[in-house]
This record gives sequence, C-alpha cells and structure tokens, in this order.
Amino acid sequence: MGNTLDASYLTTSAWRPDLFKGKVVFVTGGAGSICRVQTEALVLLGANAAILGRNVEKTVTAAKEIESLRPGAKVVGIGGVDVRDVQSIVKAVETTVKELGRIDFVIAGAAGNFLSDFSNLSSNAFKSVISIDLLGSYNTVKATFPELKKTKGALLFVSATLHYTGLPMQIHVGAAKAGVDALSNALAVELGPLGIRSNCIAPGMIAGTEGFDRLSNPDRELKDFIPLQRLGKKQDIADSTVYLFSPAASYVTGTIEVVDGAAWHIGNYL
Ligand code: HXC
Repeated sequence: MGNTLDASYLTTSAWRPDLFKGKVVFVTGGAGSICRVQTEALVLLGANAAILGRNVEKTVTAAKEIESLRPGAKVVGIGGVDVRDVQSIVKAVETTVKELGRIDFVIAGAAGNFLSDFSNLSSNAFKSVISIDLLGSYNTVKATFPELKKTKGALLFVSATLHYTGLPMQIHVGAAKAGVDALSNALAVELGPLGIRSNCIAPGMIAGTEGFDRLSNPDRELKDFIPLQRLGKKQDIADSTVYLFSPAASYVTGTIEVVDGAAWHIGNYL
C-alpha cells in the first residue's frame, strides 16, 4: 500500500516534530488503512510503534515502510495476531516491551466488515464481527492494561458513526461499534483515577480506506450527504489522533471524536 504521509507532515501540520519523542504506541490493525495512517503520524512525530495484524507479510512490510518515515524510528511488525484471542495479544505486548521498552498509547483498531442485510446475516457472521470489533477491543485493553498503568497512558478506539442511525446492511458492525463506544466511556470513568484516558475516534467516509471501498455508494453525490462537500482524507484521521494523544487533550477523556464532515447528521449515506 505504501505510506500516506511523508516528512512534509512535520512542516505542514500543526504539530511539533518531537511531540511524541520517547513514547511507544501499540496498534491493532496497524497495517490497515485508518490505523496505519494514525501510526505514521505518531512515528513521524517521534514515537516508536508496534503494529499487530493477522497477516504476517502484510504486517511486517507495513512496519518497515512506516519505520522508513523517520531516521532512528523503530516500528515492530507482529503478525499472526488475532484479536479474538487475548493470549496472542498478551504475547505481542511482551514482544513490544522487550523491543521498545514500554507502551504509552494503545490504538484498538482491528475490525472486520462486509455489507449484509439481516435476512442473509447468519448468527456466526454476526458473532465474527462482534468478536473482532468489540471483544477484540476489550482483549486489547485487557492485555495492555498492566503497561498502561505504569505509564499512565491513553487508549484510542476506532469506532464509527453508522450506529447513530438505523443504517441497513450494517447491523453487525453497528452493534459492535455501539459496544466499543460504551466500552471506552466506561473505561474512561473506571481508569481515570489511574491517570489513563480513553477516547474513541469515529471516522466517516475517508477516501482510500478499506471501509470506504466496502461501504461507499458511487451513485450518491457528495454534496447530498457530506455538509463539508468533500470526502475525508486519511490525514484528517491522523491529525485528530495526534490531538487526542497530545498534551493538548490531557483533560479530554470519555469522548467520541467524530471526523466525518457532519455526514452522519444527514442520515443514511450508503
Ligand atoms: C454475509 C458473510 C460475508 C458477507 C463473511 N460472512 N462474509 N456473510 N455476507 N459478505 C460470514 C461467513 O459466511 C461466516 O458465516 C461468518 O461470516 C464468518 O466468516 P469467516 O470468513 O469464517 O470469518 P473470518 O475469517 O473470521 O473473517 C471475518 C470477516 C472478514 C469479518 C468475515 O470479512 C474479515 O476478516 N475481515 C477483516 C478485514 C476487514 O473486514 N476490514 C474492514 C475494516 S473496515 P457462516 O454462517 O457461513 O459460518 C471497517 C469500517 C467500519 O471496519 C465502518 C466504517 C464506516
């Protein structure tokens, strides 16, 4: 896939280059599109990273490409991890701490999706998506919590906006992402006294992502469903992510940051 961002991000974005120097981010789904650009931004701004995925080659290749963005950066690609299996994440945490020393930030972004109406959606298909998106997010927190406690770190879940309305063809993902929002909110309350923040980012239609490729409807006019009159860019997600992990958001927890040009207010965008 190649990187979305390059070194020009350091001079054209609002952020200072060493913002995350010394920090380590742990990312499930980091070889995908949304979580990948989130990782790229954090690495460009000084962090080291571990990215996890099911596919070994895809994950290792993405890690090398992200690492090449900044001289001195360390990005570890850990393949063969299925977030439905908490033990596989525990092992990845051990590898991360061994290689990078600590975990400050966690992005729980591994997700599965396909379009299906209710009549064609089997119980097992529903369970698969709930298990990847919701149980997988829970497992990611469970496995990283001992490290986050030490660093008073921050969690970021990748949610969506499709459960704000009764969006057809997305019953499974809508239910899972509603659960992810609830998980994040409750963690913000329960882990706040430990100094751990928990937020969600809810991307809308972001060009060049798997979600957009799967869900977009080529027959819809942008102006009919996106008030800002453009698709989202992957950099929009990167910038919101940087904000939520930055000291500028040190009092921001238990929020869901919607990055969608106000599209969900229009309603059904499929
Ligand atoms: C109906 C389907 C289906 C489809 C799979 N199933 N695809 N049902 N329509 N298109 C059913 C299968 O028939 C099976 O049910 C059950 O789902 C499990 O399928 P498996 O292939 O065995 O599961 P698994 O290998 O675990 O795959 C999980 C998956 C798959 C979610 C189904 O798509 C996947 O791994 N995706 C990962 C990558 C991905 O989706 N990325 C997109 C992220 S974008 P039966 O009954 O036959 O056993 C994203 C955007 C969110 O999340 C929202 C943005 C706005």
